[in-house]
Amino acid sequence: MIVYWDITKDCNFNCIYCYNKYIRENILHSDVPTEQVIRFIKSMNGYVDTIHFLGGEPFLRKNFDKILETTDKEGISIRIATNGSILTDKTIDTLVHLDNLEFIDFSIDTLNETTANRLFGVKNGWKISVSNLRRLLEIRKNLNKKFSIQIEAVITKLNVDQIIDTIRWAEKLGVDVISFQIVKSPLKGPRMETLSLSVKEKIKIVEKIIKEKKKFRDKGKDNFININWGLPLVFYYLNNKFGLPFDDKKFCPAVKDSVYINSEGDIHPCSYASEFSEEELEVIIFGKSFKVTKEKINIKHYTFSEVLNSNYFRNFYTLAHTVAERRAYEICDTCPVRDRCEFCPLDIIKRPDKEPSICRYIISNEFKNKFAELI
Ligand SMILES: C[S@@+](CC[C@H](N)C(=O)[O-])C[C@H]1O[C@@H](n2cnc3c(N)ncnc32)[C@H](O)[C@@H]1O
Ligand code: SF4
Ligand code: SF4
Repeated sequence: MIVYWDITKDCNFNCIYCYNKYIRENILHSDVPTEQVIRFIKSMNGYVDTIHFLGGEPFLRKNFDKILETTDKEGISIRIATNGSILTDKTIDTLVHLDNLEFIDFSIDTLNETTANRLFGVKNGWKISVSNLRRLLEIRKNLNKKFSIQIEAVITKLNVDQIIDTIRWAEKLGVDVISFQIVKSPLKGPRMETLSLSVKEKIKIVEKIIKEKKKFRDKGKDNFININWGLPLVFYYLNNKFGLPFDDKKFCPAVKDSVYINSEGDIHPCSYASEFSEEELEVIIFGKSFKVTKEKINIKHYTFSEVLNSNYFRNFYTLAHTVAERRAYEICDTCPVRDRCEFCPLDIIKRPDKEPSICRYIISNEFKNKFAELI
């Protein structure tokens, strides 16, 4: 099981695309006290394989070094997403002494400093982050450490034309992986319109990245480029067109058994569930109604196993697993990868009649004539 943990609400950047509600809406609250965090991590023993720390900016979190050391001692694998701007000598010393540090992701969206600073909403952000990234790469090399150092890039309208150059730049820098996400749309209105890509633009950029990925495969660097986006039909289509062996499984994280903790310590089966406005989640499957009542569960008052055994979690997992087995939309009936697709139950509750636009696009445009013979 993996825990995604927004370990602090604080951030020194102001990224225009940031999905984090606390940053977006400037919601004030205090982070959970360190003692409670540590107590809860200790209760994860035997249940949790990995904690992925996010935020806010994790390196701004009070006592983050102590939290990392506790996680490490519990034998839990550590992943960190950072904007890379705050890496003190003391922090680096902590990092290099961890046995279970799997990777650090630097969120640097582009090689172009002007575009990056526009995306980050701060002056000099890019320069500092890149300089810290170089420093950490150097130290890792000198100490012969094995943890992975990666770049995470969000693709928006503002940097979409710089993606291929950014891949080549990342290779020269010496990072192990560059991962892409297409900007998710938590924001409404004009701000998001300047960032969002149309379905056609998304497919176009993903195809460009795949062509680049093929070149890296030929150089023996199969895993250098990673794309965290899309339903299985997208990958099925890409596999067909480019012959790359992508895993086309789409798991809703709650099906895959992960949990999400926000900076206040509230814990949910996934981050979407935490922001979902309905208190009663209900979906009707094969005429039978499944209902989940959201509860406010805070890590301050629970152990990890108590959380998993709560009615909220147990019912949510049942809901997610049941939805995963159901073919939700009409187009899914003829989809060649329908058995491998596991839907987000919350998407279905929110938009029962709205099939995924990307699947519709691929079926109508890319597989127009071929679709019938593929299934
Ligand atoms: C919310 S940040 C928190 C950790 C840290 N502050 C950072 O920037 O890496 C986690 C990751 O989500 C990405 N992200 C933020 N908003 C996004 C959005 N709307 N769509 C896709 N990815 C987003 C960030 O670029 C970063 O890689
Ligand atoms: S640095 Fe991370 S948490 Fe901070 S605003 Fe940017 S994406 Fe959000
Ligand atoms: S068409 Fe349906 S089953 Fe196929 S990938 Fe899209 S959502 Fe999944």
